[in-house]
Amino acid sequence: MKFREIDIRGLKESPVKLISDDWALLSAGKPGEWNTMTVSWGGVGELWGKDVVFAFVRPQRYTREFIEGSDMFSLSFFGGKYKKELSLCGSKSGRDTDKAELTGFAPVFDNGAVYIRQAELVLVCRKIAFFDLNPDGFIDESIESNYASGDYHRMYVGEIVKTLEKA
Ligand SMILES: Cc1cc2nc3c(=O)[nH]c(=O)nc-3n(C[C@H](O)[C@H](O)[C@H](O)COP(=O)(O)O)c2cc1C
Repeated sequence: MKFREIDIRGLKESPVKLISDDWALLSAGKPGEWNTMTVSWGGVGELWGKDVVFAFVRPQRYTREFIEGSDMFSLSFFGGKYKKELSLCGSKSGRDTDKAELTGFAPVFDNGAVYIRQAELVLVCRKIAFFDLNPDGFIDESIESNYASGDYHRMYVGEIVKTLEKA
């Protein structure tokens, strides 16, 4: 499957639908050492004069080790397809599973990033900042119920360096 580069401002779908309803794969690493996991929380927007994504990763995720070890990460979107495979990538850990073998998802390695060949849309990002969520900032008390084991997300900010659409 081939991709063509597009302008992020030309996205046809709502980013809220893309991430919340359709889900995405967050991937990082290099050939032989990469991992991917399903995400449905996050955002696309603007910060510090850059087009960015925000991704939220709990401390126990194996994928986080690859994001930490890399300057790049990606979000691959599937437009509502591959939900079964995305459920697997969101319930099994790459620590003890080969998710590519399990799902048939194929990695594409591209200038320090890895994304998924079957995707409809890919945001290739340069990691530019991270913030660990601090519950002192939770104004709505119900937010705390997402963290029964105190595993507050790390938010990664990625500058979108390339937006790819399935050609
Ligand atoms: C629909 C869905 C959305 C998810 N969203 C997130 C998320 O935004 N952040 C997160 O840390 N985990 C999220 N998860 C959980 C991880 O995908 C899951 O724990 C995965 O097995 C981690 O894999 P890893 O250990 O190989 O990194 C989600 C799971 C599913 C099924």
